[in-house]
Amino acid sequence: METVALRKVKGLRGEIIPPFDKSVSHRAVLFASLAEGKSTVRNFLRAADPLSTVRALKMLGVEMGEAASGELVIQGKGLYGLKESPDVLDCGNSGTTMRLLSGILSGNPFFSVLTGDDSLRQRPMARVIEPLKEMHADISGRGNDRYAPIAIRGKALKPVDYTMPVASAQVKSCLVLAGLYADGITSVKEPYKSRDHTERMLGAMGADIDVAGLTVKIRGGSRLSGCELTVPSDFSSAAFFIAAALIIPESEICVKGVGVNPTRTGFMDVIREMGAEVELVDAGTVSGEPVADIWCRTSNHMKGICIGKERVPSLIDEFPVLCVLATQAEGITEIRGAEELRVKESDRIKTMAEELRKFGVETEEYPDGIAIKGKAVLKGSDAESYGDHRIAMSLAVAALIAEGTTKIRNASSVDISFPGFFDELKRLSRG
Ligand code: S3P
Repeated sequence: METVALRKVKGLRGEIIPPFDKSVSHRAVLFASLAEGKSTVRNFLRAADPLSTVRALKMLGVEMGEAASGELVIQGKGLYGLKESPDVLDCGNSGTTMRLLSGILSGNPFFSVLTGDDSLRQRPMARVIEPLKEMHADISGRGNDRYAPIAIRGKALKPVDYTMPVASAQVKSCLVLAGLYADGITSVKEPYKSRDHTERMLGAMGADIDVAGLTVKIRGGSRLSGCELTVPSDFSSAAFFIAAALIIPESEICVKGVGVNPTRTGFMDVIREMGAEVELVDAGTVSGEPVADIWCRTSNHMKGICIGKERVPSLIDEFPVLCVLATQAEGITEIRGAEELRVKESDRIKTMAEELRKFGVETEEYPDGIAIKGKAVLKGSDAESYGDHRIAMSLAVAALIAEGTTKIRNASSVDISFPGFFDELKRLSRG
């Protein structure tokens, strides 16, 4: 995979529309496939991860095409219209594809096998296999039901009342989707609120779903109706540009049309507390999801803060770039209660602690988090992304304030969620 070389820039200026939302894109095609009638999805993210979901759905017999205007058109099959795939379903690098499909396929009366790339096959799957078994699913996985490949013989499911040990939107969504195939009401409770795109979208498509605090209840057999969906821009992709504009001198940018669902924007609250100059404007709603433009400019007086467990789910994907930002905040930034980050596309705590050290930053790694000392002067590094898209983009942001040249290995992993990332960075860079 390709290596990218980057150097310090004088400023970031201009407007950017980040790629469309990855989480919403996955859900849009999955739920549209289970709906009755035709759906159209405008702004579907054509990046490797959501395309893994599309590929799997096509293998399961779903017909999808592209309208002349670029929208994705999906002919819904209804809850029970999927067909057995002639081959193994390859979810690539995408945890969302694997975990959400596990819930759906557990209730569909045929045989399925789900696998993925080297990274996905090392990520924990017991968190979906165990509760699905409680729902009487016939599901098993490699390594004593802990990892993919996962084999499923779909059948009628039994509703459960399940309390999740970790906050995870993928697990919650998996069980809610399995609940569609259970006879009665399935109830899923999470310890902290994770992203709620599933609840919003299923509700809009007519499912009998109810959210009260941290508990989601869904009635089995709820029929979904095809609809027209528009996907907002992805806050998690926007975060790289927001962070870059805050720490690169002489920067001012506007990030347009970004999804600002409050279950996703913990990063905004944190950077504001740190002293970042950011502003939300033009707030509106797109297909049930709040959107806004985000203005941000160089912020020289940021201070380190402590971030605890309860805030982690709302900034889970922004952790790597928040670490880079912390290098430019006065004092110590500490993030704790974030052990989930060790089981993402890479071990993001270890990776960021080690990679920032190579840039000359003082970091301390804890089992459940990290401490970063600012303000640091960064020196160009021989950086490694470990094939993790969000690590590659975070290291690129660090490179733009580092003295000398930074080389980022395995940089093409950005295609997982943000094809064209380096071109956009170059377009906005001054000097
Ligand atoms: C996602 C949920 C999060 C997030 C991932 C996308 C989703 O994972 O990190 O990038 O679309 O539901 P977890 O649910 O495992 O926290």
